[in-house]
Amino acid sequence: MKILLTGGAGYIGSHTAIALAAEGFEPVVLDNFSNSHPTVMERLTEVSGRSMLLEQGDVLDTDWLRQVLQRHHPVAVVHFAGDKAVGESVAQPLKYFHNNVGGAVSLMRAMVQATATGGGDRTPALVFSSSATVYGDPATVPITEDFPRSHTNPYGHTKLVIEDMLTAQCKADPTWRVGVLRYFNPVGAHPSGRMGEDPDGMPNNLMPFVTQVAVGRRPFLNVYGNDYPTPDGTGVRDYIHVMDLASGHVAAVRTLLQGSQGFTVNLGTGRGHSVLEVVRAFEQVSGRAVPYRIAPRRAGDVAQCWADPTLARTLLGWKARFGLEDMCADAWRWQNLNPQGYRSA
Ligand SMILES: NC(=O)c1ccc[n+]([C@@H]2O[C@H](COP(=O)([O-])OP(=O)(O)OC[C@H]3O[C@@H](n4cnc5c(N)ncnc54)[C@H](O)[C@@H]3O)[C@@H](O)[C@H]2O)c1
Repeated sequence: MKILLTGGAGYIGSHTAIALAAEGFEPVVLDNFSNSHPTVMERLTEVSGRSMLLEQGDVLDTDWLRQVLQRHHPVAVVHFAGDKAVGESVAQPLKYFHNNVGGAVSLMRAMVQATATGGGDRTPALVFSSSATVYGDPATVPITEDFPRSHTNPYGHTKLVIEDMLTAQCKADPTWRVGVLRYFNPVGAHPSGRMGEDPDGMPNNLMPFVTQVAVGRRPFLNVYGNDYPTPDGTGVRDYIHVMDLASGHVAAVRTLLQGSQGFTVNLGTGRGHSVLEVVRAFEQVSGRAVPYRIAPRRAGDVAQCWADPTLARTLLGWKARFGLEDMCADAWRWQNLNPQGYRSA
């Protein structure tokens, strides 16, 4: 059973490919490598013990995408491909609406066309990478899926628009089965140390920033704000191990294939950790010091955000297994063995 992973060479997509392969699915990685390194394909083969199928190209190319769908006949598509840097989305909103919203429109049209011209196949199930960012600045925590949605930047806006497009399409064509996964804060790496997060340039997220300081690539960590209304003043987030996130996708695909009509669920642990708690846990696990400086708050950052993951447990039979120490240990192993990420290879 083939599963097409758009953006499958990226951070979350590559770890999901490993988890799907381990469960007997056949992942097909589709990527244009705009934010990933082709070396990941060799690592995917090495870690999974099987050669991974690759389709190199752009999701904006609807015609090519239709051909890919007709070539592989995947039972499900997981749509990871997109741009994800909040700051960049504020500076270049059109890039985000073009690639994220345009990419989703292109994929959905290709799915319609492939089904119509492919000999009566069922439309593949679709799993979409959404984000806790759709909750904007939540009034309370923990966050349940019925909280009001809003956006504080164009990146978040694209996720809202795509969720709405998917809802409209499911209404228009009840044969569509869509799972929307709202990720909280994915961190960590595959425990082999062969795969992990490899941001280009200055990291936007906490964990790669911490690991790059620990490995000596950067002199200190910027902690954006220490005057939030949280126990130590720094922002609190629901960090989730990327392998837990990956198994959440396997559970989502299975649930859709077993007849679910669709769902929208949070993927988080249900626990929040502050920036300073993460730094301390990382220092303990790695034995390295992580010097930091307090910097001004970043526009659009919220004080605290963590999930109520009950619905994912009930609907998908999934729950996170790894804690903060595992996340730090695996992130550190990856960075320590690959100081320059995939470019170290
Ligand atoms: N990492 C996070 O913190 C986080 C949190 C919530 C949601 N998400 C969402 O999850 C998804 C995956 O995130 P990630 O962290 O793995 O990001 P990533 O940048 O590592 O992976 C995205 C992949 O998509 C590819 N891509 C981008 N545009 C493409 C296009 N037009 N055609 C083909 N390939 C294209 C990139 O080359 C990259 O390999 C994204 O949609 C992101 O918005 C990520």
